[in-house]
Amino acid sequence: MIGIIKKLLLLFLKKLRIIEIKDKMTMKGNSYLFNRYSAVTLADGSTKEDIILGVRVRMYGHLSSQNRGKIIFGDYSQIGDNSMVAAVKSVTIGDYTAIGDDVLITDNNSHSINPEDRLLMRTKAEDHPYRLWRYSDSKPVVIGRNVWVGSKVRINKGVTIGDNSIIAASAVLTKDVPPNSIAAGNPARIVKTDIDKSPRLIKES
Ligand SMILES: CC(C)(COP(=O)(O)OP(=O)(O)OC[C@H]1O[C@@H](n2cnc3c(N)ncnc32)[C@H](O)[C@@H]1OP(=O)(O)O)[C@@H](O)C(=O)NCCC(=O)NCCS
Repeated sequence: MIGIIKKLLLLFLKKLRIIEIKDKMTMKGNSYLFNRYSAVTLADGSTKEDIILGVRVRMYGHLSSQNRGKIIFGDYSQIGDNSMVAAVKSVTIGDYTAIGDDVLITDNNSHSINPEDRLLMRTKAEDHPYRLWRYSDSKPVVIGRNVWVGSKVRINKGVTIGDNSIIAASAVLTKDVPPNSIAAGNPARIVKTDIDKSPRLIKES
């Protein structure tokens, strides 16, 4: 009996968490998947209108918007366990794009690079406005359609990734990546192009 009550209670808490997450986003369709890593944070004036999920998005990451920064996921896109998207301007993710585990995508530097600014910030309380991302340089991030971002990748402010490209595991991306290319390393460089001309390995039956 206690086992059943415990199971029901856990199920109820899980449902409650999903409702809480869904309440902080605008969703275009019905089928969304969430897991224990899924989280949404809205701060510095951001609202549920600033985070938009297309249809059939698998959302296993933490989406954090400040200062009305837009986070937009295209249809059939996904973000893996323990990954994070942070926006004060905008991060746009194209249809069918897959982002792996432990990835960080941010359109801002988090803090000012000026040492005086940072000293001022350090002396303030944890919840003081000077700690907000809007007091750092920021520039939109655009990730194209059918892009594959490997695990442990870091994508910095201002980066645009062209359609079909791949970002290799653990790469640190500070510059744009053209379509149909593979970027790898820190800082990442283009290691392959024209991958749309690579042989197909799946024969549809
Ligand atoms: C370090 C940092 C603040 C510098 O920002 P910035 O002064 O605006 O630097 P820029 O974006 O203009 O980049 C300057 C150069 O450094 C390179 N660069 C920046 N970050 C890099 C990184 N993480 N790895 C390798 N190269 C990097 C850029 O490619 C650029 O190279 P270039 O001069 O050849 O063009 C920023 O890059 C960064 O990493 N911010 C995030 C910090 C963080 O982790 N915050 C979360 C926890 S608090």
